[in-house]
Amino acid sequence: MSLTDAVSTKVDPTMPLRLRLDAATQAAFGPAHAGVDPMIHRSQHADFQADLAMALARGMKRNPREVATAIAERLTADDVIAKAEVSGPGFINLTLQTSFLNQELGRMLNDDRLGVPVASPPETVVLDYSAPNVAKEMHVGHLRSTVIGDAIARLLEFQGQKVIRQNHIGDWGTPFGMLIEHLIDQQSEGENASVTELGSFYKAARAKFDADEAFAERARQRVVRLQSGDAETLSWWRRLMEISVAYFSHIYERLDVTLRPEHVAGESSYNAALLAVVQELQDKGLAQLSEGAMCVFLEGFQGRDDAPVPLIIRKSDGGYSYATTDLAALKHRVQSLGATRVIVVVGATQAQHLAMVFATARAAGWVDDAVRLEHVGFGSVLGPDKKMFKTRAGESITLLSLIDEAAARAQKVVEAKAPDFSPEDQARIAKAVGIGAIKYVDLSNDRVKDYVFDWNRMLAFEGNTAPYIMYAHARIRSILRKAAGEGVAPPSAQALRVETPEERALALSLLQFSSIIEKTADTLQPHRICVYLHEVATGFSGFYEKCPVMKSEGTVRDARVALCELTARLLCHGLSLLGIGSPEPM
Ligand code: ARG
Repeated sequence: MSLTDAVSTKVDPTMPLRLRLDAATQAAFGPAHAGVDPMIHRSQHADFQADLAMALARGMKRNPREVATAIAERLTADDVIAKAEVSGPGFINLTLQTSFLNQELGRMLNDDRLGVPVASPPETVVLDYSAPNVAKEMHVGHLRSTVIGDAIARLLEFQGQKVIRQNHIGDWGTPFGMLIEHLIDQQSEGENASVTELGSFYKAARAKFDADEAFAERARQRVVRLQSGDAETLSWWRRLMEISVAYFSHIYERLDVTLRPEHVAGESSYNAALLAVVQELQDKGLAQLSEGAMCVFLEGFQGRDDAPVPLIIRKSDGGYSYATTDLAALKHRVQSLGATRVIVVVGATQAQHLAMVFATARAAGWVDDAVRLEHVGFGSVLGPDKKMFKTRAGESITLLSLIDEAAARAQKVVEAKAPDFSPEDQARIAKAVGIGAIKYVDLSNDRVKDYVFDWNRMLAFEGNTAPYIMYAHARIRSILRKAAGEGVAPPSAQALRVETPEERALALSLLQFSSIIEKTADTLQPHRICVYLHEVATGFSGFYEKCPVMKSEGTVRDARVALCELTARLLCHGLSLLGIGSPEPM
């Protein structure tokens, strides 16, 4: 096999197994059974296990063990399968040829993409994530959207999809009256609103609005002028935007998140489209007045008492709503940006809102069935008391304070773990570990669930944590450095030779990379990658405990060095898809 072949084809040992199981099933039971899901998964008793006989037997009203036997008998040994055996009530245990494993590992090692094919044709994916609010501090609630969204962006881009990031910032609405007036006051007092002051800015404006009637009146006037497009007011508004976007960029940079100012497509950018959205929904008979508000009622959206839930697109005071903006955004994303998949990363509490927005857009004919619309929902971050994560004073925790604390705690952990490293090295590692830990804990939990924020656990060097995986990677790199230093031949595909059970277990894990990527991109559940990387890292430690690398010799050592190289590259790549670095030495 030439290198170019290897680069373009997917590495997934279950693929040839599927083909063979399908052929065997058809040979045993006829072509009517073509394309049955073989239900292949890893097994403790063999390399893989296929459970299709159970379902088939149910359909055919036959004994599952007999069905399994009929299939297994037709799975004769070849270049892929070494052995197929029936076990238990009708499982088929599959053992692969070791030569096939070696060959597939070699294809991964020779491929920069580690056996993950480039999507062809690519999808145009519009990805809405982060979405903080102008003139407001980002808080822990925005952490999840930002971190999950960014991991999804990186993953889909790695697949070769065309990803269009959209930062749907909250940059419009009545609070802007008071915010602008407060900015004007500040300016006239010679103060300069800056990035770090943003946290107190909103609160100060709010306090003045509540306490000072004259200010409140000015704020209300200002809203009117903002909405009528008054030039001076708009320029103040733009100033607020600039300060805020600079602040968000600062946070994204510290978090190593790929959002940039050019990805900002705030709520205000849809203002001009809102009238037409409402008009069109009315014209199509989808919207009607209810208690003075223009509403869309859709089948399947009932609240308590079976009362239909309205999607309000124009409030009774004539103002547009969050839903109108979301509808205009969706229309734009599909019709102008050409999205074939739209992903919105917001809290799980907005599930019904988004489902109604999606259903309305489909009913209006703006989005056809071929376009996937997905809500990537997530649960809350909880404090140690299992309640919403707040400061002791009961305020929401700012993202910046969280990042600062992660950095400080990681610094201490690294100083204790690696006292002999130079201060520069310690700082470099601590930076990666702090950010990595925050991101990893958020990504490694099934996103729809709440999770408890626990500094000690997320910074631990054991368990399913960022430091554990980062450290596994760094350790392998140090073995490889040592090998190179001692003149061992560079890792090569030809050297790969899986022999011991530990080598085999690690190899089987590594070979799953491509299918894990595919599954994660499909389900948009980044925790699958975390679970997988943890499995690979523990697989490596099992291997390293039993299979010395530098204390072995000749072809055995060469084979192990190649396995080390593949593992290190995979861990590094996997972490990078989550937006996490792999410092080394560490
Ligand atoms: N700005 C909102 C907030 O901070 C989130 C907006 C989410 N995105 C969307 N397309 N609705 O809570």
